[in-house]
Amino acid sequence: MTMGSLCVLRRLRNVSFSIRKCLLQSGSSSHTEKFSSSSCWNHALSRQDVSSPCPPVLKKFHSSSRKYQEGCRTSAEPPLLKLDQLSNHLEISDAETEDIFTKDFELCNEFVSEEEGRVIFDEVEDYLEDAEYQYAHWDNAIHGYRETEKSRWSEKSQAILHRIRLKAFPSGEHQLSLVHVLDLAKDGYIKPHVDSVKFCGTTIVGLSLLSPAVMRLTKQDDPQSWVNVVLQPGSLYIMRNRVRYEFTHEILKDSDSLFKGRRLQRDRRISVMCRNEPA
Ligand code: OGA
Ligand code: MN
Repeated sequence: MTMGSLCVLRRLRNVSFSIRKCLLQSGSSSHTEKFSSSSCWNHALSRQDVSSPCPPVLKKFHSSSRKYQEGCRTSAEPPLLKLDQLSNHLEISDAETEDIFTKDFELCNEFVSEEEGRVIFDEVEDYLEDAEYQYAHWDNAIHGYRETEKSRWSEKSQAILHRIRLKAFPSGEHQLSLVHVLDLAKDGYIKPHVDSVKFCGTTIVGLSLLSPAVMRLTKQDDPQSWVNVVLQPGSLYIMRNRVRYEFTHEILKDSDSLFKGRRLQRDRRISVMCRNEPA
């Protein structure tokens, strides 16, 4: 990895977070859609109210036709999230946000098999394992991580990456040829940020490996519009256009990983990301 590409990676994440973080701590009760669990969805989905055990009180809802549930705050440890019982991997604050995500966000669970995940993992582990995890200054976007950009892949991995690119980008799209590999330690996390528009175009696609994690996306001009996504190992997410530009994204700390009022236990997680070129 060259110094040049390291610099690009550092500049990739524009940290643009502030009070959003505290406004959103510990989640909120929410309006939620039901998404199919194993296939790719694109949001043509039936409605379902959230029945989290004891969600905090919610402050705002955009659509008068829908109600929220008022929850309560508690100091007790939230119950653990049982991933095998999860049919819906998105928790959405309100109907307007849902409309944006219907268009510009995709989640495909089980996009790669365990075997394919292992192929990619074995290959990136060779590069990563020699590096120390970085615990940078508090205002950096990311903590407890190591990362690389990789251009040469085994044939098996190339086939998987090809499938990812086909899924995310229309043919003829100018894509960044380097694949970004990010390894978050168990205590690592990514703060809210928007990827730099100088180095990345309309679309970001990410494959998650090893541990499940919660990604939270928050509207920059309205912190009460948010989405939590459970990213399971083997899943692929795609953020485009409005989601990519108008929302910050972050990967929550293990201790902050709440989804529908339940606690998700996070461990070391690897993501493999492809992007297109800025226009
Ligand atoms: C990033 C980022 C998300 C992920 O590196 O800019 O947002 O899935 N990563 O690891
Ligand atoms: Mn990012």
